[in-house]
Amino acid sequence: MNPQDRPVAPVNAPAGWTRSSWRAKPALQQPAYPDPAALEQALAELRVLPPLVTSWEVLALRRQIAEAEVGRRFILQGGDCAESFADCESGHISSRLKVLLQMSLVLVHGLRLPVLRIGRFAGQYAKPRSADTEERDGVVLPSYRGDFINAPAFTPEARTPDPRRMVKGHARSAMTMNFVRALIDGGFADLHHPEYWELGWVARSPLAEEYRRMVAGIGDAVRFMETIGGGPIDSLNRVEFYTSHEALLLPYEEALTRQVPRQWGWFNLGTHFPWIGMRTAQLDGAHVEYFRGIRNPVGVKLGPSVTAEQALRLAEVLNPDNEAGRLVYIHRMGAGKVLEKLPPLLEAMKREGRRVAWLCDPMHGNTESTRNGYKTRRFENIRAEVEQSFDAHAAAGTRLAGVHLELTGENVTECTGGASELADADLARAYRSTVDPRLNYEQSLEIAMLIVRKQGQIAAPAAL
Ligand code: PEP
Ligand code: CO
Repeated sequence: MNPQDRPVAPVNAPAGWTRSSWRAKPALQQPAYPDPAALEQALAELRVLPPLVTSWEVLALRRQIAEAEVGRRFILQGGDCAESFADCESGHISSRLKVLLQMSLVLVHGLRLPVLRIGRFAGQYAKPRSADTEERDGVVLPSYRGDFINAPAFTPEARTPDPRRMVKGHARSAMTMNFVRALIDGGFADLHHPEYWELGWVARSPLAEEYRRMVAGIGDAVRFMETIGGGPIDSLNRVEFYTSHEALLLPYEEALTRQVPRQWGWFNLGTHFPWIGMRTAQLDGAHVEYFRGIRNPVGVKLGPSVTAEQALRLAEVLNPDNEAGRLVYIHRMGAGKVLEKLPPLLEAMKREGRRVAWLCDPMHGNTESTRNGYKTRRFENIRAEVEQSFDAHAAAGTRLAGVHLELTGENVTECTGGASELADADLARAYRSTVDPRLNYEQSLEIAMLIVRKQGQIAAPAAL
């Protein structure tokens, strides 16, 4: 390289930013720790514990998101609404990984695109709440904010924020990552044999024939590749997996924010892809301040009240140099609202030439309560929001780069509908989520198949 071609060494951080500059801004949704010395002790420990991811993985993810922005990849981001310490066990982790991998095979095959897989796990332990306190029979206690902060039982001991939980959560995240990396290195045998997938539900779908053909097509493609390759396909054994969580609890995120040798700038090494939740995305708030200084790709959830002006201002602050692969907007408008609320945002960002990868979260705008008191989501609404999002992007000339889903690999009954037609009365049978209702194994695979179907319908006219 000629000396004059050498890039100018970038500054280490944007003006005025340090990993603790967020502390001077209003920080919503933070717990009140009763013992400052215990908090400092926990943070001091976290600051020296090993990171969970590496800077080169973070930078590789940025490159892949940049590809998704221009339609060369599809992003599948998914996992539990909230992880719990109790669910850090092998069955839960492996079935969640398995359903995500199976969905991604459906998407790879159907969309003819590489799929970028991002788990909502290994750190998804802090939750925003609508109220700081909860009252039961005249007793007022702090709200449950996720296992990073306190415990769900309604007792003063359980609900008092305990900073040791951050250290424990870091360890559980590391164990989760370790197991995921090992499972992927070992290769998931099931992936090579779609005929072993649990696909009984397919028969109950009105699209049964189409789904059967899809699965048979995947099996044929895998077998064909294995035949010409003379054995199991390496690329199936070495799938890449990235992690993400809502970076809500800022003291924890700050402690995992590090510099690394031979790299400029600061990285959040607690996860590859942190995102800002809808409730904490204020332009002058602490979360946006923290996020503007890290080099990770960053996500922001956009709900129906976000204006085009706000979306543009956020992009200026979080991605001032308009770099590819840096910014992901995750819209979660609700079925029925997305066709009205999303187009102005798409048009504004497009008009200003702002680079962004758009994801659809069809879960959080579609939560409702049943008469028997369960929080649920109807499969039909989830499906409608995904399909309407594809339509809104097609009409605006922008691209839906992927989806963000709350799901589990287990046969829970939390969302109603789907091919098995779960009804409100079925919810009691296997409702396990402590926070939001998730798609179960078969509903997750069904959504993947519906995405392929929808994308095929959109792509067809353009191909003529
Ligand atoms: C979530 O992703 O669990 C969540 C709370 O989402 P949102 O910020 O979009 O409401
Ligand atoms: Co949720």
